Amino acid sequence: MSSLCEHLTKIFETVFEQLELPRANAKINVSKQGQNCQFQCNGAMASAKIARKKPHDVAKDIIDQVKKNTLNKDIFKEISIGGPGFINITLNDSFIENHIKEISNDKKYGIKESGEGQNIVLDYGGPNIAKAMHVGHLRSSIIGDALRRIYKYAGYNTISDIHMGDWGTPMGMILSELELMGFDGEITMDMLAEIYPKAAAACKEDEKRLALAREATRKLQEGDPTYTQTWKKFIDVSIEGIKKNFDALGVHFDEWKGESDAHPYITDMINDLKRRNLAIESDGALIMPVSKEDDKKEIPPLILLKSDGAVLYSTTDMATIIDRIKTYNPSKIIYIVDQRQHLHFEQVFRAVHIAGIAPKDKVDLVFAGFGTMNGSDGKPFKTRAGGVMRLSDLISMAKEKATLRLNEAALAKDMDELERKNVAHKVAIAALKFADLRNDRVTDYIFDIDRMTSFEGKTGPYLLYQAVRIQSLLRKAGIENQIEINSLKIDDIDRDIALLLSEFPDHFNNAINQNSPHILCDYAYRLAQEFSSFYGNCHILSEPDKKIKTSRLALCQQSHKQLCLILELLGIEIPDRM
Ligand code: ARG
Repeated sequence: MSSLCEHLTKIFETVFEQLELPRANAKINVSKQGQNCQFQCNGAMASAKIARKKPHDVAKDIIDQVKKNTLNKDIFKEISIGGPGFINITLNDSFIENHIKEISNDKKYGIKESGEGQNIVLDYGGPNIAKAMHVGHLRSSIIGDALRRIYKYAGYNTISDIHMGDWGTPMGMILSELELMGFDGEITMDMLAEIYPKAAAACKEDEKRLALAREATRKLQEGDPTYTQTWKKFIDVSIEGIKKNFDALGVHFDEWKGESDAHPYITDMINDLKRRNLAIESDGALIMPVSKEDDKKEIPPLILLKSDGAVLYSTTDMATIIDRIKTYNPSKIIYIVDQRQHLHFEQVFRAVHIAGIAPKDKVDLVFAGFGTMNGSDGKPFKTRAGGVMRLSDLISMAKEKATLRLNEAALAKDMDELERKNVAHKVAIAALKFADLRNDRVTDYIFDIDRMTSFEGKTGPYLLYQAVRIQSLLRKAGIENQIEINSLKIDDIDRDIALLLSEFPDHFNNAINQNSPHILCDYAYRLAQEFSSFYGNCHILSEPDKKIKTSRLALCQQSHKQLCLILELLGIEIPDRM
C-alpha cells in the first residue's frame, strides 16, 4: 500500500527507464497549482540535458509513453504539458475512490512497518535531579514523546529513556549542603527545592564551598557508602516529583535511567582509551582529541576526567552509549536535546566512532536538536519575576486559560464539574503540545498563552474541536462502527478532501525521515480546515440521496480516523465531547 504520489512515481519510473532517462527524475509531487491539475512531474525539465532535447519534447515523449501502456488508461483523466515542460496530471475519480478505499481498509492507513525488527532508543526529557524542570525539558519531552509514538507506529521497537542528570557536581552541592546543615532526617521535595539553589549560590560565591561540593561529588562517584545512601534518598524523592509532572503531560518513558547508570562502564572505558592512546593527559585532566583535518571550525577535545578525577557530562554520555548498545542493540539512538548542546554531541559522537564503541554502520547516532522557547521579549521564557518557570506552574497556567477559553466559546456547558475539569486539562495539554510541535524543531518560538489556547487558528484546541465535531456528526448519523467504504463516490464537492486524505503516508514518511513532528501538525491542520469547508459546502446528514450520503459519511469517518491518529501520534488526547 502506498500513497498516490508513490504509486504515480512508480509508473513514471518505469516510463523513464524505458526512455533511458534518469529514474530519480521521475518523482511525482502534489501540484501546488490548485485547480489546474492535481499532481506534477518536473522530471522532463531535469532530464532535458541528458536527453539532448528541449524539455517540452522530453515531456511529450514521457506522456506518449505513459499513454501507450493500456494499464494506465483507467488512471489518468488528463495528462498534459504545462509551461516549458512540466507534466500536469489529473486522475480519474474512480482511481482516487479506489485508493481511498484501500487506505481506509489498510490497518495502518498506508503506513509501512519499515521499522519492524529494529530497536531504537530515544533520549528525551533529561530533567536534572533536585533542580526545577524548566521549559527546555518541556520541549525535549513533548518532541521526544511524539517521535517515540511516530517510530512505534512505523513498527520500530522503541525504548525511551529519560536520562536524568543525577551524577554531576549539583549532587555534590546537595550532599555537602546537607552535611553542613548536619541533616540526616527524611528529605522532602520542598526541602530539595530550597537546598539546591542555596548550595548552588554559595558555590558560585565561594571557591572553598565549591571545593567541598566537588569533593563530595568525587566521593559519591567513587562509591562512598554514606553519600550513596543519602543520594539515593533524594533521588527517589526527586523522581516522585518528576513523575507527577510527566504524568500530567502524558509523556511516557520506558526507562528511568540516569547519568549514574553509566558509571559501571566508565573505568573500563577509560582504561581502554588510555591503553590505545586515544585518551591523553593534559594539565592534569584526561582528554580525548576528536578534531578532524577538514574541520571548518575548531572542535575542542572532549574532557573525560577532571584533574580531581571526577567524570563529566561527556564521559557519562559516552559510557551510556556502551550501556545502550549492550542492553538494547539499537539501530538508532536519537537525542532530543536543546540545540545549544550541539557541540557536546558532536564531540561525543566522534569520540565513540573513534573508539569503535558505536560503529557507524551498526548504529546511527542522531542529534535532533530543538530551538528555544522564548517569552514575548524574544529571550528564553522566564517567570514574571525573571526566574525559571516550573513545569508544574506552566501546566496550571495553561489549565486556567483553557477553562476561560471554554467559557468564552460556550463549550462544555452542560458537563458536571469533574468532566469539565477533565476537558480543560485536555485542552490545556493540547494547547501546550501543539504550540510546541507545530514549529520546525530547530527554530525558536514565542510562548504565547493567549494564542495557543484559542479555538481558532492553527492551535491544539482548534484541532480538538474539529475532531470532536466530526465525532458528534458520526454519532448523529448513527455510525458507531466502521462503515463500508465500498460505496465511495466522489465529485467536485469532496474531491479535495479525498485527495488530501490520500496524502497521509507522504507526510508521515517525511516526518519520520526528518524527525520533525511539525510536518504532521501542518497536515493535521490542513485536514481539519479542508474538512471544515467540505462540511460547510455540502449536505451530509440531510442529503436525500442515500448513496451520496453514505459516501460522504465514509469520507467524514476517514477524516476523523486520520485526525485522531495524528493527534495520538503527537501525544494529544481528545475529549469525548466538548
Ligand atoms: N540533563 C540535561 C540537561 O538538562 C539533558 C540530558 C540530555 N541527554 C543526554 N544524553 N545528554 O541539559
